Amino acid sequence: MSDKKLNILFAASEVVPFAKTGGLADVAGALPKAIKELGHDIKVVMPRYYKIDTSKLTKLEEPLGVPMGVMGEFWAGVYTTTLPNSDVSIYFIDYEEYFGRSGLYEDEHGNGYKDNANRFMFFSKAALQLCKMLHFTPDIIHANDWHTAAMPLLSKTRFIHDFAHAKSVLTIHNLQHQGVFFKGLMDVMEVGWEHFNSHEFESHDNVNLLKGGIAHADAVTTVSKKYANEIQTSEFGFGLENHIQAHSHKVYGILNGVDYDEWNPSVDRLIAKKYDVGKMSGKKACKKDIQKHFGLEIRNDVVIIGFVGRFVEQKGIGLIASVLNGVLDMDVQVVMLGTGEKWAERFFSDVSLHRLNFGLHVGYDEVMAHKIEAGSDMFLMPSLFEPCGLNQIYSLRYGTLPIVRATGGLDDTIVNFDEAKKEGNGFKFYDATHDALYHTVLWAVNVYYKNNKAFKAMQKRAMKEYFGWDRAAQSYVDVYKNISNR
Ligand code: ADP
Ligand code: GLC
Repeated sequence: MSDKKLNILFAASEVVPFAKTGGLADVAGALPKAIKELGHDIKVVMPRYYKIDTSKLTKLEEPLGVPMGVMGEFWAGVYTTTLPNSDVSIYFIDYEEYFGRSGLYEDEHGNGYKDNANRFMFFSKAALQLCKMLHFTPDIIHANDWHTAAMPLLSKTRFIHDFAHAKSVLTIHNLQHQGVFFKGLMDVMEVGWEHFNSHEFESHDNVNLLKGGIAHADAVTTVSKKYANEIQTSEFGFGLENHIQAHSHKVYGILNGVDYDEWNPSVDRLIAKKYDVGKMSGKKACKKDIQKHFGLEIRNDVVIIGFVGRFVEQKGIGLIASVLNGVLDMDVQVVMLGTGEKWAERFFSDVSLHRLNFGLHVGYDEVMAHKIEAGSDMFLMPSLFEPCGLNQIYSLRYGTLPIVRATGGLDDTIVNFDEAKKEGNGFKFYDATHDALYHTVLWAVNVYYKNNKAFKAMQKRAMKEYFGWDRAAQSYVDVYKNISNR
């Protein structure tokens, strides 16, 4: 069994480079490649959103029939290509009425689409039907987050005929979003109303897709070890802590990796000048580049603190807002890139009008994200919770030392600076208070100016660390094998 080649279906609602709103897309674009390199056959499936250009994709001839319970059968198109620099096939489920829209989950005003329940139930079922059409018999169905969380039970009930031997894995990237909908969804899901109870899909008389997925997946993984423990507590469990505790025997924490072909200053084509741990001079050019872009004073000797991320509470933007003016009183420059809650966009825009040492870019901008990683000296990530977090790991490779709150993957990847022991790769605080954040920033800035030798040594240590996807892929394969043997 141990050398057996596994067939895996990997379903995700977003995949780099085709569609992305956050880290799930980075994971879905990289992990399957690393799993394939371990010798397994893995196919990826995602919706074909409107903005995905089909001109370079191949259209499959056959239409795909998708049973939608009381709504009848819908017919979808299927496109395919391979993930860049790999031979991993990816399939796109094309259904204009559900996915021919500008947003993935919400419109341009931030309102979630009213039919998200049906959209992603349709996608989950289509993903399973696709296997049949391709004559692909998965040993493992790997679902991600609430969008595809119905797949484990679907494969054991409505679709059992084609998946009799398949096992399922559900990866939780973010427990805050559970896919809670009107209970009528059960009639579209077609797994039987007996599964609508408080141990499976029911919560407060609604359907909770993630809850049901946790109950029925053969293994539940989350994206760091620390978060795997945190979600079993009331502080981080978003109401599902007891449910997850009840299934804790099948919960695993596997830290995400980094795609170093994408996020690596020695090969990054999006930054002003490449650099690496042996030749750091390019980082100065990158610093100047963002100072120019944001209209900041051009000074190599000033510390730049960067932020890239969604402007949502999770990311600690409330904390940042409360300390920002105090931090800007220090001899620093701060640059922020993000989009999200309107109050935050307004607040930060206001500050940028008044403070000369603050640069803001409201929006989603891949190139700018790379430039900020490369040009900053420190990276701010004071998240209230963080299942894994990718930007702090990217930052390490760019020698941009993270300032983080000790939660989830941030705690697992960042080791606090310890001058005496010559240890650490960043600066870490524990309490989610503005005092703790402010003093940690102050401390980091002081180390930069008053103990620059130690700062530089820490930068070098950080840049030499390795978080490649190969390690994580092996851990996933271990989980796959473990459940296949049961
Ligand atoms: P999350 O998935 O919770 O948003 P992660 O740290 O796992 O957090 O991943 C976020 C990813 O999205 C990173 O690759 C980051 O660079 C990217 N990102 C977030 N906001 C923006 C933005 N405004 N512009 C460009 N990239 C962004
Ligand atoms: C989620 C989490 C983030 C994680 C990402 C990829 O969006 O918020 O912490 O890194 O998924 O797993």
